[in-house]
Amino acid sequence: MLDERTREIDVETGAADEGLARFASPDLLRHMVLDLRQMKSFIDAPLVMARAEGIWYWDVNGKRYLDGISGIFTVNVGHANPRVLAALHQQIDQICFAPPLHATNIPAVQLANLVAEVAPGDINTVKLLSGGSEATEAAMKLARQYHRQSGNPLKYKVVSLYKGFHGATLGALSATGLSRRKAIFEPTLSGFVKAMPPTCHACPFNLSYPSCGVTCVDQIERIIELEGPETVAAVILEPISNTGGITTPPVEYLPRLREICDRHNVLLIFDEIITGFGRTGQMFAAQTFGVTPDIICMGKGMGSGYGPLAAIAFRDHVAAAFWGDDEDNVEFAHGHTFGGNPLSSAAGLASIREILDRDLCANAREIGDHLRARIQELAPLNVITDVRGKGLLIGMGLKKDAAAGVPFPAELRFGQRVGHRAIGRGLIVRADPDWIALAPPLTITRAEADELFDLFAECLGDELAVSR
Ligand SMILES: Cc1ncc(COP(=O)(O)O)c(C=O)c1O
Repeated sequence: MLDERTREIDVETGAADEGLARFASPDLLRHMVLDLRQMKSFIDAPLVMARAEGIWYWDVNGKRYLDGISGIFTVNVGHANPRVLAALHQQIDQICFAPPLHATNIPAVQLANLVAEVAPGDINTVKLLSGGSEATEAAMKLARQYHRQSGNPLKYKVVSLYKGFHGATLGALSATGLSRRKAIFEPTLSGFVKAMPPTCHACPFNLSYPSCGVTCVDQIERIIELEGPETVAAVILEPISNTGGITTPPVEYLPRLREICDRHNVLLIFDEIITGFGRTGQMFAAQTFGVTPDIICMGKGMGSGYGPLAAIAFRDHVAAAFWGDDEDNVEFAHGHTFGGNPLSSAAGLASIREILDRDLCANAREIGDHLRARIQELAPLNVITDVRGKGLLIGMGLKKDAAAGVPFPAELRFGQRVGHRAIGRGLIVRADPDWIALAPPLTITRAEADELFDLFAECLGDELAVSR
C-alpha cells in the first residue's frame, strides 16, 4: 500500500520509487478539491507529499522540502515523531472510537486533565473538538449560553478584528475580518461587530506607537459602549494574528483589553489555534503576554497534525454557569461526533508531553531568537521592513525600498513570488504578497534553522534580483 511504498524513498538521496509519481497525475488529481486553490493550476504544478520526518517532507518524485511552516502552523513536535507514533500504535489496538455523547475514553480524560494543567490561571475545563473552526464556533456559542444562564440574556454580540481569521465555517467566518475570505459567502451571521486591528506596521489610524497611546484598544471599548454593553457577549481575537501579517500587539494591548472586557462583563476569547502549544515560546500566548482570557480556542499544534484535534478551555467562573442538576438544563448545548476521539486524543497527549519533556517552549524561544538574529543579516537587501511575532512564529514585512517605505507594485505579489521560488528550491514558507512567515517545527535544531535561513535568504535575494 501507499505507506509501504513511501518507505522505499531513500532518505539520503531522495530517490523515489518511480511508481509513486503517478499519484501526481492529472487523472487522479482532477477528482480532488484542495483548500483555497484553483485545481486547474494545481494540476499543472502538483505537490503530492509521500513521506515526512522531522522538519522534512518528500514528495512522490522523491524531492525533499524543508517544512518551514510546520505543515500549516501545526506539526509542533515535528513529522514522524517517534513518541506520537508509538502512542498512536498503542491506542489503535485499544479503542478507536467512543463518541462524546454518552461516554468518553481514557486518552480523552487524560488529555483534558493535561490541558487544564498547562493552561494559564483557572482555566480548568476543557471541551475536546476536532478542528479550529469547531473551536471558535464553540467558544462563541459558549459565551452566548454563559450570559443567558448568568442573568444577561441580551448579551449576544461578538466583537472581533478586521484582518483576523477564525475559521471557514459560517459562524467562524462571521467573526473573521478578511473580505477576501468571506465576501463571496455573504451575508454572514448578524451580531458580529469588527474593530480595527493592532497592526502597528500599517496603523489603521495612521498613528505611530507609542505616541498613539494604543488607541486601537480604546476603540474596542468605544465599540462596546456604542453597541450597548448589555448586548455584547464576547471579544475574540488571535493574540498574534497570522492573516494580519503576524501582527504582534503592543505590550499594553492585551492587558488593557482584559480590563475593558472585565469592565463591561464581556468574555475575552483568545483564538490560540496558531499560537498555542509552544509556538510563541510559552505553552500559550496568554502566558507569553501575561493575560488570562476567559476562553482559549486551541487546535493545529494541539495534536501536531497526527489526528484532527482541537478544544476550547475555559475559566472556573464560566464553567460554573454550566454546572447543575439534569433538571436545570444548564449543560453546554453543543457537541460533535468526533470530539475527544481516542486516536486524536492519544496523539495530543503524546504531543503535549513531548513539548513539556523536551522543553520545546525553550527551544522555540532560543531558535526563534537565533533566526531573528540571522534575519538581521539581510538588512543590506533593504527589503525587510520589520520582523514580527514571538518564539517560532516569525513574520517579515516586505517592501521594495524598506528604508524609504516604498512598497512593491501590488500586482507583482512579491512575497508570493518568493514563496513559489522557495518551493522550487525545496523550502515551504507562508507567503503573502507583502509579508512572509516562518514557523518551523519546535523541534528544529540550530543547524537546521541555519539551513532554513540560508535557503530562504537565497530565494529572497534571487527573487529580488529579478523583481526590483
Ligand atoms: C487563527 C485561526 N483560527 C481558526 C482557524 C480554523 O481552523 P481549522 O482550519 O482547523 O478549522 C485557523 C485556521 O487556519 C486559524 O489560523
